[in-house]
Amino acid sequence: METDIDRVLIPRTELLARVDELGAQLRSEYASSTPIFLGVLNGAMMFLADLIRACQIPLTLDVMAVSSYGASTRSSGAVRILKDLDRNIEGRDVIVVEDIVDTGLTLSYLLDNLRARQPSSIKVCALLDKRERRTVDVELDWIGFEIPDLFVVGYGLDFRDLYRNLPYIGVLKPHLYSE
Ligand code: IMP
Ligand code: MG
Repeated sequence: METDIDRVLIPRTELLARVDELGAQLRSEYASSTPIFLGVLNGAMMFLADLIRACQIPLTLDVMAVSSYGASTRSSGAVRILKDLDRNIEGRDVIVVEDIVDTGLTLSYLLDNLRARQPSSIKVCALLDKRERRTVDVELDWIGFEIPDLFVVGYGLDFRDLYRNLPYIGVLKPHLYSE
């Protein structure tokens, strides 16, 4: 698995230090409102697990699973909800926790869908922002790291469902995914 990685982009120590900073920011913003942390599976699972522990405030948790890519490394624009929320978000403060925002298509679809359920507020915390690839305008409220246009894996992010369990964010060797 490690031999498929070109280089480490963000080591584990940096990931955890940044997640702690984000946790502190969320703690001061949501100190009195018991927000819902809405994790987008599968990619955000590691980030979500570390972030909610870094926050140290009363919160509730829910997850959604969406599929945007199939087996490719480029977004098709077609988003499917594979698993919906279990709980009602009406009147709640929602924080969408995403692994990475690339074109923005997945997130923009998701936000439209969630807004229709009338939460009291909805904000986005994304671990990685690949801003130069954005095709739809979506507002991100908290960002872990802005990264260049590289395909990355690890710490929850996958290629063909592999590499999620790498403890760092690494750049996949291009010959593995270029057609
Ligand atoms: P978007 O709809 O183009 O913004 O894509 C968002 C989704 O694509 C993310 O939630 C990831 O699942 C996936 N994705 C985008 N870039 C990468 C990457 O570099 N590595 C792994 N997954 C990625
Ligand atoms: Mg994903």
